[in-house]
Amino acid sequence: MTYQVLARKWRPQVFEDVIGQEHVARTLKNAIKTGRLAHAYLFSGPRGVGKTSVARIFAKAINCQQGEPGVPCNQCLSCVEITEGSSVDVQEIDGASNRGIDDIRDLRENIKYMPSSSKYRIYVIDEVHMLTLPAFNALLKTLEEPPAHVKFILATTEAHKVPVTILSRCQRYDFKRIPAKDIVAHLSRMAADEGVDIPLSGLGIIAREAEGSMRDAQSLMDQVISFSGRTVRDKDIADVLGIIDRDVVFASSRAIIEGAPERCLQIVDQIYNYGYDIKEFYRVLMEQFRNLLICLIAPQNDLIAVSDTDKEEIRRQAEMAGTEKLHLLLSFLINREEDLRFTSHPRLVLETTMVKLCTLGDVLSLEELLKRVTALEKRLTGAAAGLGDCAGPEPLKDPGAGWPSEGTGDHSGEGSRSPKEGKGKGWEEFLAFVAGKSQVAHSILKEWRFVGLSGDVLEIEGKGESFSSRYFEDPGRYRQLRDYCREFFGRDMDVRLHTHGQAMPGRSRKTPAQAAARVRGGEGKKAIPKTAREVLNLFDGHMIENDPGPKITDDIGGTIDERNA
Ligand SMILES: Nc1ncnc2c1ncn2[C@@H]1O[C@H](COP(=O)(O)OP(=O)(O)OP(=O)(O)O)[C@@H](O)[C@H]1O
Ligand SMILES: [Mg+2]
Ligand SMILES: [Zn+2]
Repeated sequence: MTYQVLARKWRPQVFEDVIGQEHVARTLKNAIKTGRLAHAYLFSGPRGVGKTSVARIFAKAINCQQGEPGVPCNQCLSCVEITEGSSVDVQEIDGASNRGIDDIRDLRENIKYMPSSSKYRIYVIDEVHMLTLPAFNALLKTLEEPPAHVKFILATTEAHKVPVTILSRCQRYDFKRIPAKDIVAHLSRMAADEGVDIPLSGLGIIAREAEGSMRDAQSLMDQVISFSGRTVRDKDIADVLGIIDRDVVFASSRAIIEGAPERCLQIVDQIYNYGYDIKEFYRVLMEQFRNLLICLIAPQNDLIAVSDTDKEEIRRQAEMAGTEKLHLLLSFLINREEDLRFTSHPRLVLETTMVKLCTLGDVLSLEELLKRVTALEKRLTGAAAGLGDCAGPEPLKDPGAGWPSEGTGDHSGEGSRSPKEGKGKGWEEFLAFVAGKSQVAHSILKEWRFVGLSGDVLEIEGKGESFSSRYFEDPGRYRQLRDYCREFFGRDMDVRLHTHGQAMPGRSRKTPAQAAARVRGGEGKKAIPKTAREVLNLFDGHMIENDPGPKITDDIGGTIDERNA
């Protein structure tokens, strides 16, 4: 058997086989069923979406001698001849090569004859927009009142080039681009039938390239199968079609979101060496950020034509970045696109753009800024008014609660004391022990709350975003803390640090009343200058060492006082 390309082999033969044009198929089928046939139809739409196929199915259905109304049997002589293109009653005329007035005159002569063996003579004029103006004019009259045994089906990819006088004499049907997911599903059926193994992600690449045209998708698949045989990998598809590897695209968006300029430069180098078209890469990168954004804005919609695994990664990256940042990145890419279009140094433009994108994300979102400003305002006004109306966070509990009496090495001493006594005391003993080692570490640790001790794990909790709760983030200080523990407990300890109330950025741990009390009373440390106290309150800090140093002028304090007054 001679080889047939997929597009021909898989031409739909009944209305139900036509994908993505249900609105057209249903109307035509009903028209036949109810006997309400027009004498001229115009099928318009992009290339390879089923116009010719539907025209043939329609012609077959009208002339079929056996099937039920609207369903061609595909077996009777008429159906078979139409499928083979050998029917004398159904003629396909290529508008591009029969575009002159003489061709239309011939056609007019021709339609006078009665059909040889069917009900109707049907003329399908493809690419009808190619006809010359005189040819169109010659067609007008015929189109308006053809003989009862004649039907016209005009097809075009460019309906806007067809004169309105023609358009108004036809019943018009607009064919749509076929959704990528429908193309993928169809290709996947075809692959299974052909015994070819192609991953869904690969079919997704093909569907994307086909831009809604089933014929294009089938041709691309033909090409890919010729290249790789029965087993096709994504990489083959990318190579054959000159498409940018998805991995590279994902690596790029990830590097940008994570703010890694060196990685971006490496990727550009890779793209360049691989011979990818840089402008094409840029387009794909924009599409990637569009997908990331859509994934957050409209997660339920089928607006992203990618495989499920890709979707998963898209979701991960999108969540990492957040809507605000993605908006920013995508807008920047769109604005910069023109630079790339007109440059003679595309690589350079791509490099600078990607590096810039890496830093763009660091800009705080407006929402975040507003939150912080509001929080700051609250703190300032709260401190000034001394009002305690805000519900503050829970006060720190007994720092020693939960401290077990056993297993605290040499320092626990009284093994027989009640758990309650032991709880408070154990933590306090540890604090006292640390005080003996370092005043600084002690004053920091005093701000922490004991959470639990089990086996070799000590858990403590700091207060929100305060300085003391971040103190042990420094590896050196953390090591020192563990050293103290080792000495105190007589064994290696795992110290787990928790922070409290971090969920709300900029939220103060203190009620305004507490803050005001601190401002007024200066936490009882009279030696701290007023300005310094203001600063401490504002930033939620506290004094580690009170170095008198050069005297701080009261300028800042004065300003704060004025505002608070
Ligand atoms: N809607 C569809 N459903 C299933 N297969 C389709 C569809 N559209 C196109 N195809 C496939 O593509 C091939 C070409 O389709 P068809 O000739 O009908 O497209 P067309 O719209 O007439 O394109 P053109 O404008 O380029 O003439 C068909 O043989 C079929 O395999
Ligand atoms: Mg066609
Ligand atoms: Zn038939």
